[in-house]
Amino acid sequence: MNAGILGVGKYLPEKVVTNFDLEKTVDTSDEWIRTRTGIEERRIADGSIDTSDMAYEAAVQALKDASVTAEEIDLILVATVTPDKAFPSVACIIQDRLGARNAAAMDISAACAGFTYGIVTASQFIKSGDYRHILVVGVEKLSKITDWNDRNTAVLFGDGAGAVMMGEVGEDKGILSFELGSDGSGGKHLEKATEFITMNGREVFKFAVRQMGESSLNVLKKAGLTKEDVNFLIPHQANIRIMEASRQRLELPVEKMSKVIHKYGNTSSASIPIALCEEVEAGKIKDGDLIILVGFGAGLTWGAAAIRWGK
Ligand code: UT7
Repeated sequence: MNAGILGVGKYLPEKVVTNFDLEKTVDTSDEWIRTRTGIEERRIADGSIDTSDMAYEAAVQALKDASVTAEEIDLILVATVTPDKAFPSVACIIQDRLGARNAAAMDISAACAGFTYGIVTASQFIKSGDYRHILVVGVEKLSKITDWNDRNTAVLFGDGAGAVMMGEVGEDKGILSFELGSDGSGGKHLEKATEFITMNGREVFKFAVRQMGESSLNVLKKAGLTKEDVNFLIPHQANIRIMEASRQRLELPVEKMSKVIHKYGNTSSASIPIALCEEVEAGKIKDGDLIILVGFGAGLTWGAAAIRWGK
């Protein structure tokens, strides 16, 4: 049995915070942020919108897009490091709101690689034949754990949600191969030990450039494919320079890499499903295309998947 993506959805809060807005509150500049990160603006959820609200909106869209009803969902996996509260999980909160009364529900904590961990976990349940429909959401309200006075981190992050409905797909379609990994020894470089995120940007940058390129090539090899077979790359939207390095490792032209970082900043586990949803909506990903999803994050964690698009 093959497991793949049946439908996509996303939610971005309305409030836009530009680099120029940040110039007024921290010692930074639009020029520095744009050239060092590729970010021009980000969306920030106001106080009344919590993580589960964004997850719910993206999930509703994914269900509709997949033509799957809430009662048909067997499992809900929500990748997030910014849940509404420690428990119950965001997955349980949206299970109730969706009316997914036949679904099990849990959150996954793998930071920015969380969505990839989620779809790979889902695919195992589907391949085994135990579950038919699994909702996977990547969602973050990073604004609530960002120190808005710390220019090292305040300029990078944004809020949002992306979701996919997963299920059985036809022969040669769906997730062809994957790689998941972790290296807890690097955990100190990116953490939330107190109220806010702290980061050693340079260390994370070096790790990301190496790991994103390597994981992309590894999943191709595992699927028995080569760089020439790739139609579209959806990298974690952390920094345009990291994304460009991955694109170059795959020798892809610029138009074959998804780029939404300029609009949304780094939305952690939501960044890959938001980018995927935008490309699907724009008609850039077609039936039969080979797409590579690749991400990295706090942990340190990483994950990649090669997916043949279509049902
Ligand atoms: O999802 C995973 C999350 N984390 C990441 O993806 C982070 C990965 N790392 C990065 O994206 C980059 O390392 C950053 C964008 C965070 C920083 O870029 P960089 O090119 O590595 O800059 P740097 O940290 O080496 O700093 C260069 C200079 C420093 O000044 P000095 O020491 O050269 O005088 C910084 O103090 O830029 C300064 N700087 C800033 N200047 C203006 C750092 N942040 C800012 C800022 N505005 N916001």
